[in-house]
Amino acid sequence: MYTKVIYKENISRKVKRHKVILTFIVVTASFLLVLSTDLSPDLYFINFGTVEDVSCHYAVTGDALEPIDTHFAPASNSIFFHETSCRGGLNSRQACSIESAARAHPGRTIYVLFSAPINKISLEDIIMELLKKFSNIKFRRVHLVEYAKGTPLELLVEGGALNRTRWPISHTSDVLRFLTLYKWGGVYLDLDTVVAKSLDGLPKNWAARENDASELFYPVGADHPEEFFEPAELPGQDAYIYHIWNRQTKHLKVERNSPYAKLAKRHCPVVYETFREFFGS
Ligand SMILES: *[C@@H]1O[C@H](CO)[C@@H](O)[C@H](O)[C@H]1NC(C)=O
Repeated sequence: MYTKVIYKENISRKVKRHKVILTFIVVTASFLLVLSTDLSPDLYFINFGTVEDVSCHYAVTGDALEPIDTHFAPASNSIFFHETSCRGGLNSRQACSIESAARAHPGRTIYVLFSAPINKISLEDIIMELLKKFSNIKFRRVHLVEYAKGTPLELLVEGGALNRTRWPISHTSDVLRFLTLYKWGGVYLDLDTVVAKSLDGLPKNWAARENDASELFYPVGADHPEEFFEPAELPGQDAYIYHIWNRQTKHLKVERNSPYAKLAKRHCPVVYETFREFFGS
């Protein structure tokens, strides 16, 4: 009898301990899972090991590019791109976006605003030279802190919030697009798009929305962006803008008869013909 009770107690203690351990594992696993997704809070005090370096946004030397200063007065129908990586230049996909926007809008100025210093060598590289041939494409340097001065986002930027996020490059890009539209109006476009049609006919205020029937803007959705890269017919022939979803597709090769290659051939022929089979790599 006595041994039986002890035995039972031992068992229930064991079960309890197992429960505690199991709960601990489940809670820890869920926590790590959430941290690895976009739902993650900005726990900047935890070092994730792969924090992007955005110190270039604050650099004031080594720049050969004309900065945006008090004389900058873009027309209200201008189109803006922001380059927020610290690479100091453009790749062929980005150049295609810019060329396509410039071709579709000969009557508008296309501003490519760099957050990093662009030195003389980068300013004269092959991609920059190709784009300079378009009289309506202009490059400028943005100094982030200065750019936010006198706007509702001044304190956010000066407080260093963009230094404490896990995705400083894309969050800085989010801040900059709002600042640009707030300051100058016009149109903001991502550098991983292809503009297929003039936006001139659209009403005064619009935003492209992502959804399953978004025929006119993003006919290939973010959930299956690889469709752009494999040989296929071009989807959504009436689309204004195609979104290439660079974050998910940067490692993919642009196949010759893929929708992306067809789009590039038609809407950014100068960039496409220069790069050919290396386009997009
Ligand atoms: C943010 O980081 C940059 C360097 O990456 C630094 O120059 C800047 O002063 C920081 N801003 C704040 C408010 O801490």
